[in-house]
Amino acid sequence: MVGGGEGAYIGNIHRIAARLDNAWDLVAGAFDVDPEKGRAFALSEGIADDRAYADYKALITGELARKDRVDAVAICTPNFTHYPIAKALIEAGFDVICEKPLTATLEDAVALEKLTRESERFVGITYTYSGYPMVHEARVRIANGDIGKVRTVQVEYPLEWMATAIESKGNAQAAWRTDPQKNGRGGSIGDIGTHAYHLAGFVTGLELEALTADLATFVDGRALDDNAHVMLRYKGGARGLLWSSQVALGHSNGVRLRVFGEKGAIGWFQEQPNELNFAPLGEPVKVIKRGSDNLSADAIARTRTPPGHPEGYLEAFANLYSGFAEAIRARRSGRDPGVIGQNLPSVYDGLKGLAFVEAVVDSHEAEGQPWLAPLRV
Ligand code: NAI
Repeated sequence: MVGGGEGAYIGNIHRIAARLDNAWDLVAGAFDVDPEKGRAFALSEGIADDRAYADYKALITGELARKDRVDAVAICTPNFTHYPIAKALIEAGFDVICEKPLTATLEDAVALEKLTRESERFVGITYTYSGYPMVHEARVRIANGDIGKVRTVQVEYPLEWMATAIESKGNAQAAWRTDPQKNGRGGSIGDIGTHAYHLAGFVTGLELEALTADLATFVDGRALDDNAHVMLRYKGGARGLLWSSQVALGHSNGVRLRVFGEKGAIGWFQEQPNELNFAPLGEPVKVIKRGSDNLSADAIARTRTPPGHPEGYLEAFANLYSGFAEAIRARRSGRDPGVIGQNLPSVYDGLKGLAFVEAVVDSHEAEGQPWLAPLRV
């Protein structure tokens, strides 16, 4: 692991998720931008002294010198560091699990996707919401035609934690997220709008054709948007609305997706992740529960406990990690991956996320020319 040291947020989620199904062991790391803190943290996590590295360059050199070198490296650092770290790892021959957004700039994302393709390394992106079993169930049902042709997609990701200027009061996570150099051009849209964009595309299979966006910065002095409204036009005629907000009071992590088709509608809410709402035309709304009978193989493969025993965020993240392990194993042994190793967020999904952010910010800035194609890559 690179990043995810003492006091960091997502690194600990990765550590729990990686180990939940015994798919991975954490054996080496450069956990902190401060080498001494990183090494101390590694030792406190039970990492061997000679694999508690000062930085990612030392990790690469040290691991390349070992016969039992790591199988993959997880990147859990702020956005602007993803590109140089991932590039160095891929060039050294390592598979990579990278946090979203893939990079801070579209240019870097284009280069990283190309490098990945040419090197044939595995690069998985932790778009968390595509790890949930009921999100897979929604994807399968829509692909099977259960709601007919999709008419409109409503997706939102409201958060409240940045409703005040916490970046100027010592909050490390908010500080880099509001710095365009470290975060990238899109504030809420880059940080969480990319999750919503990926979730909508993942579940519906729709490809974006064009968008128009209106960004706002409600907290005084903040350099990036903290609220984004985006209208979407998908190929084939479907429409969409995407809302991301870091200032939505009352919402801790309110990721919500609703898809309306000609024959029915389907809805999923992250704070009730074990349920899917299904509204077939002319019938009462049904609540489909995780773990119940007659679910898809995709949902069953990502389920551990019976219905009524809730699974959530950590298990969804573990589904990604176990999927990455299966995908890597299958590639190395030349076989097809099992269900869990399929439909994983790829480096191309990461690139599409950056192309989306770029188009959103460009659309907002070019008020006179609102509809922009998102994938100019
Ligand atoms: P954070 O600020 O809490 O932690 C960053 C960690 O990276 C710190 O330990 C820091 O010392 C370390 N670091 C920074 N530069 C480094 C370098 N060059 N080498 C080694 N370590 C370095 O950040 P947070 O909130 O954990 O976010 C990290 C990444 O995870 C971001 O890209 C963010 O967008 C993503 N993220 C993804 C989530 C998801 O749902 N998939 C949720 C939260 C964050």
